[in-house]
Amino acid sequence: MTSNSSEKMSAGQIYRRLLTYAKPYWPAFVISIIAIIIFSATEISLAAIMEPLVDGSFVDRDPDTIRLIPLAFIGIFIIRGIANFITTYGLGWIARNVIKTLRGQMFERLITLPASFYDQSTPGQLMSKLLYDVEQVANAVTDAIIVVIRDTITIVGLLAWMIYLNGTLALIILLTVPIIALLIYKISSRFRRISKMIQESMGDVSHISSEVIEGHREVKTFGAQQYEINRFDKVNQQNRRQRMKMLATDAISQPIIQFITVLGLSLVIYLATVPEMLEQITPGSFISFVTAMFMILTPLKRLTKINGKLQQGIAAAQSIFALLDEQPEPDMGSKTIDRARGDIQYNNINFSYHASTSNVLEDISFHAKPGQTIAFVGHSGSGKTTLVSLLARFYTITGGQILLDGIDINDLKLTNLRQQISLVNQQIVLFNDTVANNISYGHSQQVSNEQIIAAAKAAHAWDFIERLPDGLATQVGQNGVLLSGGQRQRLAIARAILRDAPILILDEATASLDSKAERHIQAALETLMEHRTTLVIAHRLSTIENADQIIVMHDGRIVEAGTHNELLAMGQHYAQLHSQQFQEKPIDISS
Ligand SMILES: Nc1ncnc2c1ncn2[C@@H]1O[C@H](COP(=O)(O)OP(=O)(O)OP(=O)(O)O)[C@@H](O)[C@H]1O
Ligand SMILES: [Mg+2]
Repeated sequence: MTSNSSEKMSAGQIYRRLLTYAKPYWPAFVISIIAIIIFSATEISLAAIMEPLVDGSFVDRDPDTIRLIPLAFIGIFIIRGIANFITTYGLGWIARNVIKTLRGQMFERLITLPASFYDQSTPGQLMSKLLYDVEQVANAVTDAIIVVIRDTITIVGLLAWMIYLNGTLALIILLTVPIIALLIYKISSRFRRISKMIQESMGDVSHISSEVIEGHREVKTFGAQQYEINRFDKVNQQNRRQRMKMLATDAISQPIIQFITVLGLSLVIYLATVPEMLEQITPGSFISFVTAMFMILTPLKRLTKINGKLQQGIAAAQSIFALLDEQPEPDMGSKTIDRARGDIQYNNINFSYHASTSNVLEDISFHAKPGQTIAFVGHSGSGKTTLVSLLARFYTITGGQILLDGIDINDLKLTNLRQQISLVNQQIVLFNDTVANNISYGHSQQVSNEQIIAAAKAAHAWDFIERLPDGLATQVGQNGVLLSGGQRQRLAIARAILRDAPILILDEATASLDSKAERHIQAALETLMEHRTTLVIAHRLSTIENADQIIVMHDGRIVEAGTHNELLAMGQHYAQLHSQQFQEKPIDISS
């Protein structure tokens, strides 16, 4: 699904592309950078102030210095605090804006992506791009900016101050710093490896638990509790193990770094106290030197770790850009129809889901005149759902032509084409909203309650809606879990009635319902099909008997077509299907 240009983008290209998102906010950026530089300067001045503090206040007891130093401390911390606030706020503001833009673009892209894209990605993957990847990019970039600029300046500044104080001693520090840097680098690359494994094991933890949460009924009925507990125990254990590795690395690295620092410090103290040195160095400059030395450690640590964080950010940015670069649904059409008459013609349609696989549909031709009902029957997997979904251009046909009112559907604007179609699917989808909003879903204008009630009545749904605790205002729950299967179907039918499109595609659910619900739904469907061209994948005998034409599918081909009586008289495929299934089980022929 990501076989496009963004996979091949180099890190540099990714930076530049990210930068275009931050560009509009450049004034805030410049101000933040200045604040960062000021902040670094206060760091260095903290080390520097130690010298007059010790020499002036304590050794020389100079009254001016004694008065000034406390004020200087206060001043430094006020400046530092303001600079820090401006940096955090400024960069945070930019980052939040960039996140919002990126998220918005990703969402807009998601909505325009073709069905084939969704076939190949899981909701979990897409959600994590939208939720985590974007945050990760922004964090990595802001951190990188702060760390690289602030810490580099701080380190260089502190080193320069040490050299200024005493060249010989500074030389020792210049030798220890690379050792510590290397050590931290090694440790953090180990951290990175482990944290990748932790991420994966967290993925397993969430994957297994979400499966159990969503499939709690299956787990119970299949008695799979122990199996799931064992499965979870494994990933839980794995997660603990990785965490412990991380913890151990951290626990051991701290003392090692401290030890090396102390070695350096001891060497500094030793050298500073040899008689020749003692003459050159004042207590103040010594304290100032040691302070600078300790202060260099933290920025050094951050600087050596930043690469790992940046790599994560780049990986996340790559995943975001891959999504943004996906091709939206092709929509080359320019023609529009106001309201189609509903004349549908399939001419020698071939179709396969992937270029590499064999055809799912072969040479499909039929003609539905305005207002007619065409029923499709055939074994499960024979291609019925695929066939009708091509009309709404969910997939691009491989060969042949579909005409609507004599116009090739590829020449129609996609939105215009889909306006002509009401779709009641095999799997009913309801939104986590009220009954009323589910019925009026997709209507751009305000729909009155009267219209909604009329549609609900026509769909034979009003009886049960009236009895719901809040009537039309009742929340249906995620995907309508709070309703029964038959009630969900009738809501979907009410939605289609309100939409009032000239073409109806009906992919009947195979689930059998009790005869009362069945009668209700049958009656609702009849209302819905009136005055519309209907392509129905039928599992109900009555729908099929009344159809103007029945098309019998087998392995992606049309093997028979005709009316119920004609096909029965032919005594072949349909007659067989009919005698096998409709006699004993009038509702379900497809499984
Ligand atoms: N999104 C998809 N990607 C790849 N192959 C698919 C996809 N959807 C369906 N198929 C394949 O296409 C064939 C036809 O499937 P289709 O859903 O059209 O059958 P159907 O006649 O509607 O079956 P049923 O009566 O069970 O609903 C099947 O072999 C199926 O595996
Ligand atoms: Mg189907």
